Amino acid sequence: MKKGLWIAAIAVIFVTGVQARNKRAEEIVSQMTLAEKVGQMSQIAIDGLLQGRDTPPVSTLQIDPAKVREAIVDYHIGSVLNAPNTRARTPEWWNEVVVQIQKTANEDRLKIPVIYGLDQIHGATYTAGSTMFPQEINLAASWNPAHARKMGEITAYETRASNVPWTFSPVLDLGLDPRFSRQYEAFGEDPYIGSVFARELVKGIEGDNNTIGEATKIAACMKHFLGYGAPISGKDRTPAYIPENVLREYHTPAFQAAIDAGVHTVMINSAIINNVPVHASYDLLTKLLREEMGFKGMIVTDWEDINKLYNRDHLVPNIKEAIKKGINAGIDMSMIPYDYKQFCTLLTELVNEGEVPMSRIDDAVTRIIQLKLDLNLFDVPNTYAKDYPKFNSKEFQQASYDAAVDGITLLKNKDQVLPLQKGTKLFVTGPNAVSKRALNGGWTFSWQGEKIDEFGAQYLTILDAIQQKYGKTNVTYFPGVSYNNKGKYYDEYKDRFDEAIAGAKNADYVILCLGENSYCEKPGDLDDLYLSDLQTELAKEVLKSGKKVILVLSEGRPRLISKFSNQVDAIVQTYLPGIYGADALADILAGDVNPSGKLPYTYPAFPNSLIPYYHKYAEEQENNDVAYNYEGDYNFEYPFGYGLSYTTFAYSNPKINKTTLPLDAKEEVIISVDVTNTGNREGKEVVQIYSADLYASLIPDVKRLRRFEKVDLKSGETKTVTFKLTLNDLSFINLENKRIVEAGDFEFQIGASSADIKEKIKFTIK
Ligand code: BGC
Repeated sequence: MKKGLWIAAIAVIFVTGVQARNKRAEEIVSQMTLAEKVGQMSQIAIDGLLQGRDTPPVSTLQIDPAKVREAIVDYHIGSVLNAPNTRARTPEWWNEVVVQIQKTANEDRLKIPVIYGLDQIHGATYTAGSTMFPQEINLAASWNPAHARKMGEITAYETRASNVPWTFSPVLDLGLDPRFSRQYEAFGEDPYIGSVFARELVKGIEGDNNTIGEATKIAACMKHFLGYGAPISGKDRTPAYIPENVLREYHTPAFQAAIDAGVHTVMINSAIINNVPVHASYDLLTKLLREEMGFKGMIVTDWEDINKLYNRDHLVPNIKEAIKKGINAGIDMSMIPYDYKQFCTLLTELVNEGEVPMSRIDDAVTRIIQLKLDLNLFDVPNTYAKDYPKFNSKEFQQASYDAAVDGITLLKNKDQVLPLQKGTKLFVTGPNAVSKRALNGGWTFSWQGEKIDEFGAQYLTILDAIQQKYGKTNVTYFPGVSYNNKGKYYDEYKDRFDEAIAGAKNADYVILCLGENSYCEKPGDLDDLYLSDLQTELAKEVLKSGKKVILVLSEGRPRLISKFSNQVDAIVQTYLPGIYGADALADILAGDVNPSGKLPYTYPAFPNSLIPYYHKYAEEQENNDVAYNYEGDYNFEYPFGYGLSYTTFAYSNPKINKTTLPLDAKEEVIISVDVTNTGNREGKEVVQIYSADLYASLIPDVKRLRRFEKVDLKSGETKTVTFKLTLNDLSFINLENKRIVEAGDFEFQIGASSADIKEKIKFTIK
């Protein structure tokens, strides 16, 4: 059959399939009582369904049949989430527990299966023994979306091995605020990168045609809609003020890409935008998400967020009004997660009193049933670990390593100090050198990531990996300091800088491993973006040794290093590279792998310069005017898109097929450039193309990333990189909140980073 006919045939099968599924969902909903419906809309935490003790390493936790019966049969609860005590469990444990839950659901009148959800956000977080990946921020730093696809596929596989069909991933919040504790969970500051990676991660999790009923696919959940990453205070779940055109311009694209990729579910932003909690916003949930952006799947709240409309936000006088607000705004399922009896009782009352229309309940429940049908849970409610032989296989581990090594970013390499010859004497110091938490971050076998030593004993720390690479006798280590000025390690280390300096003096090079301990959400809130004082002091002390210092950063967000960064010889940003992050780092330090990551965010230099690369044009700076000591508007430590290699690249021969097009043109603008590896070893370059709108009716950004491509080049090799754009790529959201293209002059800028533009091409829309 010709390709076109195939596509048409698949489309017919798909449409017929959707129609049949919708019909079946309607039939089921038509048989349901109100009590059964509100039960389906409820999601509860597993902790309330268990008995036994959880005192690791001994745990007797298991299902409490009476509690499960009460929730699932008496109250018809439709969904369960989370790992008990946010602690990973073996696939077999999950198999057994979810089987019990499904068995109980089968005893209920309509036998509607339960949907279990877990935060498997960089690999199967809550499954012991799973293949954890680098965090999303590392995937973005690789500028290679294939890693997101792979991570999605493997996560889905290992989650199904755990008998769980739903993950609360991908995180699509715009990571434009370096203070935010969840920046590492997302794809960085650029809306276009976010969109490309969103699509790939969704397709990886759900499959090319979103066939989530297959035994190796699960439902994805894009989150947290909308505007979560931009609180005024920089702290989690605090208010943001975001004009609607700004929300649409920067925050919606990744979500739109996920919707277009067929994502089945969405979770809502726990915080408040423009004084309205998003969970209470009919405008955002129904008008924007459903009606405009075309999302047809199921909307779930974040943790306890309906109650928070009352007990945190003071928006309503009681929980009942909170439920009314949330459900009428468009919520389909409430992550309650504990007092389900209250939720079910009050929502039933609200419907009986006419305060929540039955049509809204039916709409929500229909979407939930459709999701369960798509997952094939009615026919195959359980999947078993024994059917998943590739669980944490060599192939999966390799994929995690590949993603890690492709994202690690070389930020500084004075006099080509790196790579470091084998046999060199190294002194390793800093709290991150022996910390697996620092390499993996939050959501790693537990919520805060503190259980990695227990679940990941076989993985290497940075010190382990460097010792393996350079030989134990060549590597010495002294921790130097802990992270903070308080806590039990402070007294131990505050006066021990001397030992760090002595260690440094006896070595050829110092590998200084600094950054952050693991965290996520509220516990990760910050009062000071600078790297902690103790670590900064350690850096300064070690620098006094006069030895060459390689700074290795492992951190969930760019902590400020400007107090000493100009004195170190090299800087390697590992972000949160995952279980094989240390192996990947050692390969890069030794030159076995040529680094090729580039920053997916602007690395700020100072606390008052936290602006992404897509800022507005600044006033002309008056040079050297000491009288005013003017620092410039947009200072950064390193610009967005920046990263070095052990080889060098040259750009030449820029071409464009048309330099002018009429406003209504539909044809493509095709731009190409030749990139040559001018150094003496193979390497990968991320070629970036930005557009600059030279004037517009709404002040334009100085530039916006429009396309990118990572190319692999042998020494001396040249490749032509071609980008295809349409005029829509030059559009923006105007003050009427409409996407428009305006006539005018533009410049395409092709470069190696947002601040290293190699070629410029003029372009006009008439
Ligand atoms: C987080 C979500 C997560 C949910 C369920 C919340 O605290 O904000 O990202 O999916 O918990 O664990």
